[in-house]
Amino acid sequence: MTQRAVVLLFGGRSSEHSISCATAGGVLGAIDREKWRVIPVGITRDGAFVLEEDDPAKFALDPSKLPEVVDNGSRIRWPESVLSRELRVVDEQGERSLGEIDVVFPILHGPWGEDGTVQGLFELIGLPYVGNGVLASSLGMDKHYTKTVLEAAGIDVAPWVTVSPQQWRNDHDLWHRRAEGLGLPVFVKPARAGSSVGVTKVTAWDQLDGALETAWAHDGKALIEQAMVGREIECAVLAGRDGGAPRVSVAGEIVVTGREFYDFEAKYLDDSAVDLVCPADLRDEELAAMQRVAARAFEAIDGSGLARVDFFFTGTDFIVNELNTMPGFTPISMFPKCWIASGVSYAELIDELLELGLETVR
Ligand SMILES: Nc1ncnc2c1ncn2[C@@H]1O[C@H](COP(=O)(O)OP(=O)(O)OP(=O)(O)O)[C@@H](O)[C@H]1O
Ligand SMILES: [Mg+2]
Repeated sequence: MTQRAVVLLFGGRSSEHSISCATAGGVLGAIDREKWRVIPVGITRDGAFVLEEDDPAKFALDPSKLPEVVDNGSRIRWPESVLSRELRVVDEQGERSLGEIDVVFPILHGPWGEDGTVQGLFELIGLPYVGNGVLASSLGMDKHYTKTVLEAAGIDVAPWVTVSPQQWRNDHDLWHRRAEGLGLPVFVKPARAGSSVGVTKVTAWDQLDGALETAWAHDGKALIEQAMVGREIECAVLAGRDGGAPRVSVAGEIVVTGREFYDFEAKYLDDSAVDLVCPADLRDEELAAMQRVAARAFEAIDGSGLARVDFFFTGTDFIVNELNTMPGFTPISMFPKCWIASGVSYAELIDELLELGLETVR
């Protein structure tokens, strides 16, 4: 078997730096070494590309010490043009070649990683990469545009209003009436964030201004969204091979207990507050309906590679909350869990993503 070279790219400038490192630890520990030569490249919190150690244990998720990419002084030199696939590194020993690379696997979350920017870099220098392209990544990052595109494709989303601080102040009564049209309660959230930061549940209209200020602290646009009543169901999508239809996993469910909603604390700090149940208890026809909506949503944003699609299931309808174009991918995250429950192991999933990255025509 010819061995191919993959750059595993992780860390990054966003607040999800450590989660990305933990994923890297999982991937380094599970990837098929006979098939893939792995070059670990870390991005420091300041955005420097450094050659990292190939050590799964170094990046294990330890609550007392979150893993991170520390600047070790080395610097990665990406290929100079589309005519070259050669990766180089400069460190205290001088400059040397790391050989030709076949594909990049960016496992970055949030801004400068999941939003199309790093994907643009690989387009510019002509390197194949895993996952979503520029358009799907930037759409997925922005909840307003995700919903706009989904709605245009006839996919159910929660009714919403998007507003900037300028619009709110200049035409307060008009925007307030639009918000009131949604009915209480509403959820207020930044258009581009993640991990539930800046998200508030508003149960009385006098809380709305405060909730908007909280959301605007994270982004210049805030969404005011009608609260959906139902179960939180998620599933994992893999692009089809050879131009085939997207493949959709079984469903997972977020069961939140003792908290108002799936907020930041429930996600990362209070593991007694939430259960990730997979497979979720759905009837066959409900699962089939969810899988159809997930595949359509993935196609609507022009997805490639993978995505996690998050829903509110009202008991009759699957309302799409959002798509994550580089979902959490540690061995215990929902995305791999959904595939494991569908019969695809973590190692097989990594392999499949790399093969898809190699075959995707951008
Ligand atoms: N319209 C809504 N109706 C009911 N609950 C909601 C609504 N919007 C958000 N929530 C609750 O708030 C949580 C976080 O909201 P959302 O998923 O939009 O934020 P996020 O920051 O994008 O999270 P992620 O880390 O998944 O990207 C949801 O999981 C859900 O519990
Ligand atoms: Mg979410």
